[in-house]
Amino acid sequence: MIKINEDFLELQDSYLFSTIAKKVNEYTKNNLDKKIIKLGIGDVTRPIVPACLDAMHKAVDEMGTSKGFKGYGPEQGYEFLRNAIVEDYKKIGVTLENDEIFISDGAKCDCGNIVDIFAKDNKVAITDPVYPVYLDTNVMSGRSGKFNKEKGQYENIVYLAVNEENNFKPELPKEKVDMIYLCFPNNPTGTVLSKEDLKVWIDYAKENNSIILYDSAYEAFITEENVPHSIFEIEGAKDVAIEFRSFSKTAGFTGVRCAYVVIPKTVNGYSKNGEIVSLNKLWNRRTCTKFNGVSYIVQRAAEATFTEEGQKQIKENIAYYMENAKIIKKGLEEAGYKVFGGVNSPYVWLKVPKNLTSWEFFDKLLEEVNVVGTPGSGFGPSGEGYFRLTAFGTKENTIQAIERIKNWNI
Ligand code: MLT
Repeated sequence: MIKINEDFLELQDSYLFSTIAKKVNEYTKNNLDKKIIKLGIGDVTRPIVPACLDAMHKAVDEMGTSKGFKGYGPEQGYEFLRNAIVEDYKKIGVTLENDEIFISDGAKCDCGNIVDIFAKDNKVAITDPVYPVYLDTNVMSGRSGKFNKEKGQYENIVYLAVNEENNFKPELPKEKVDMIYLCFPNNPTGTVLSKEDLKVWIDYAKENNSIILYDSAYEAFITEENVPHSIFEIEGAKDVAIEFRSFSKTAGFTGVRCAYVVIPKTVNGYSKNGEIVSLNKLWNRRTCTKFNGVSYIVQRAAEATFTEEGQKQIKENIAYYMENAKIIKKGLEEAGYKVFGGVNSPYVWLKVPKNLTSWEFFDKLLEEVNVVGTPGSGFGPSGEGYFRLTAFGTKENTIQAIERIKNWNI
């Protein structure tokens, strides 16, 4: 008899964005005359920038020649891309070596796969609300314990509430934790931490021999000075942090797939016997065994994002989305909503009015004004009563969606 991995049975419902897609598809099927505007999942709408397209075309042609053809590439990524990333980090004063960078097919996969190299009995801390991948992958790998329906929480996970009361800054856990997930600019709340705020976490990780798993997939959307783009800008981070980054939201690669994880050689874990083990080495071993690398064509496209032309084009894309974020934030505020985020992030986090639950608001918004967003409670119990809209739609749809909300007699 084939036995299953019972840890999967601890998962709650389906993956958040699949649940939403199912609900929206159902509504669409029964309301074919309605124009639904989707500001739910953070999927980009701007086409791939010309610099990347040119690089891709060139790489495709190369692959069709005996001289230029490439078979398996290095599992960790081609040197040309890893070097370009090293140079990019230099611009913010962060020095890395190219073998501290691993190219992958997405930050979602990296955030999910990283759990492979950590022991099952590590204590995990996540912010609440949180990007569901951090939690679900720890459930799947047996670190969560049982789900407490009343609390809406797993018994072995430490939830760090982020809300209006603490200005969306997670407080240090009362108990000792080993793996700490931080994502800033934050998904879903769109809020940020300062260098000083992050330093507190680095000091905690040092004191407790913990690791910080830092998701900076949205760093390119930071508009304000003094907001760190990378955790490695903060002293000591290279001893205790792993960073995840992505080309998805900057260069329009959600369909193309390319990202990277940075594991400094100075960041270590421990065996049961207290032996020091390099996490970079473990991840490299895992990568070589389970992954054959991202395609040459895609890596050439990713490399092009770092050229002068590529940078200029990407900045234009980001400015486009951040203009949408402004439209959403301003429009919602004019309509009387309490709004967070949207300044250093493509996500706008709003307080649901009239004491509705997040899902009640989702249903009403879909049915009454045909706009799709993401219910805050889908990101964790502390997200209840909040709602997320993304700035990744087209400008026309964003304006129309906000007009509908402003004219809505909720
Ligand atoms: C989101 O909407 O939170 C993101 O698009 C999810 C992702 O990047 O996987």
